[in-house]
Amino acid sequence: MRIATMALLFVASAASAHNASLENFQTKPILADLKDLRALNIPVLAQDEESEVGYAVITPQMQQKIQERAHKVGKCGGFEDLSSQVSVLSVDYKSILAPFAVMKARNDLYEKAPFKAVALQQRADILTAIDEVKEDNLRSYVTWLSSFPNRFNKGSTPNVHVEEMKTRLEAMLANSSLPWEVTLISHRNTPQKSIRVRLTGKDRPNEIVVLGGHLDSINQSWGGSGNAAPGADDNASGSANLIEALRILMDQPQAQRSIEFMWYAGEESGLLGSAEIAAQYKADRKDVVAVLQLDMTLFPGSGELVIGSMTDFTSAWLRDYVRAANDTYLHAKVVDDKCGYGCSDHASWYKNGYPAVMPFEATFKQSNQNIHTVKDVISPASNFKHSAVYSKLAVVMGMDLANSTARQP
Ligand code: BES
Ligand code: ZN
Repeated sequence: MRIATMALLFVASAASAHNASLENFQTKPILADLKDLRALNIPVLAQDEESEVGYAVITPQMQQKIQERAHKVGKCGGFEDLSSQVSVLSVDYKSILAPFAVMKARNDLYEKAPFKAVALQQRADILTAIDEVKEDNLRSYVTWLSSFPNRFNKGSTPNVHVEEMKTRLEAMLANSSLPWEVTLISHRNTPQKSIRVRLTGKDRPNEIVVLGGHLDSINQSWGGSGNAAPGADDNASGSANLIEALRILMDQPQAQRSIEFMWYAGEESGLLGSAEIAAQYKADRKDVVAVLQLDMTLFPGSGELVIGSMTDFTSAWLRDYVRAANDTYLHAKVVDDKCGYGCSDHASWYKNGYPAVMPFEATFKQSNQNIHTVKDVISPASNFKHSAVYSKLAVVMGMDLANSTARQP
């Protein structure tokens, strides 16, 4: 007994005597842009040169350096915290980065395939359906969602808006003749819940098209986690796009494939909801053929109807699909860009082997600078005509892709 106490005292005093060793207790396993890690001389434990992702275990000082650098180039966090998934002591680097290699091989296979050109056949019913996307509806959904004090997963009431959203969705779906199911999904790593609406497919219900975005918000201003986080652009906008797409798709004939709408929990605290959902889908061997991620669609920083298509953590086939849908139905301008790290929930799906795509409001650099502050509200800069395009894309995926046999090789 006494020996044990002495040993404990010894450990405690040794730790406090050496700040460096104390600091070891605060290290984090992360994924970040390989170029950033190298530029900052942060030891890279494993890397994927192709997707330019590096794995590192960082100290608080290193974290600060990454954040400062990210801020300079207009990024938010600049890295992805793997604490909830990987132990800092893990030396199984290969398995941490293996999914990247697998998905890269699939993207390469697609890029090399002679049949790669994706062309959509224009359909009158799809033209009519996308015409039903109403800017006024988007405005009213964003107004409603951004009027909660915050939608923070670590706040005192992380599920008030979630419950209200569920009630609204059920009221809306009551008018649909399709088979539907609304589910609140609980999580291990956050008390906040995700919401899923499933429109079950007619012919191949096991093939799933996921249309998703995060419903939570955050205030990252100095000392501000408890502060107001209206999150109008990030991400009431993408959430609203999905409600509007659902309103339209629920009145269409039942699709061959299932369509699952997802409003994820805790994205702002590290993709928490989507990480658990995607891992569970993989464990259950679910056949998710495509994942659309809508996160920030309201600020047309690169011009009205200019869409940034993120090329990292996404599928080459689905990026082509978005371009084809744009040529056939949307007539916007699509420009390729990168986040440089797993900046949203599409990364959760990608890492679990599912093809994802992220059409974004602008290029990374030209996106809304007011996110994660009290200033992320509807403003004169908000553009609902621009935002409507992303709902239309979701409708096209729900009517075209969910009625096809197309998939990534
Ligand atoms: N909507 C942002 C991601 C984003 C911001 C994309 C700016 C492009 C430009 C998202 O909600 C977010 O804030 N993500 C975090 C990372 C996440 C893993 C916590 C970020 O970017 O810091
Ligand atoms: Zn955010």
